[in-house]
Amino acid sequence: MNQPEELGFVHKYVPGRSTRTLLLLHGTGGNENDLIPLGRELDPEANLLSPRGKVLENGMPRFFRRLAEGIFDEEDLIRRTHELADFVQQASAAYSLNRQHLFATGYSNGANIAGSLLLLRPQTLAGAILLRPMVPIVPEPLPDLSGVPVLAVSGRYDPIVPADEADQLVYLLRKAGAEVSGTLENAGHGLTEATVEIARRWLENRTPALNRSSL
Ligand code: MLT
Repeated sequence: MNQPEELGFVHKYVPGRSTRTLLLLHGTGGNENDLIPLGRELDPEANLLSPRGKVLENGMPRFFRRLAEGIFDEEDLIRRTHELADFVQQASAAYSLNRQHLFATGYSNGANIAGSLLLLRPQTLAGAILLRPMVPIVPEPLPDLSGVPVLAVSGRYDPIVPADEADQLVYLLRKAGAEVSGTLENAGHGLTEATVEIARRWLENRTPALNRSSL
């Protein structure tokens, strides 16, 4: 079910039976297929919307440029964040998605653009699952994220994301008003079964998605 690039991004859309949509954002070198199985594990009923990052780093797709590992090209990040937010808006109209039930699920680079969506285009998402995230940007002023549920899952032994970076992100999002659950698991940068289970349980406890037929 690969869709053409007509909404601005090569992407995959897999319809589900509930009103919830997971916006799946892959890590560096991934593509629109990568997180589909994760999305299904997290919520078997949700619609899945999975774009491919447009920036190529040595042939590897990403959602924004970086100057070095952990050092982001802020101008590009801002531009790409708005571009992705516009895609989400257009895709929501094209696939009749309920934006009140649209949660990002991002891994690594995908978690960073999801964090940036929260901080720069806060109306885009109803909530977010950030797996191995960093602080993408610190906007001035901070947006109002009052009550927006966010799960951040970090790895204690992550060689790419230092634990205090994850703490700083949790602090920043809480300062903006988000309801953040921060979890540090005994893992590295890669996702583990425990990561998936933490995310699945967290999502299960969020606003239950309504069945389309009951609308
Ligand atoms: C990555 O490898 O993708 C980094 O950890 C995160 C990023 O560059 O956004």
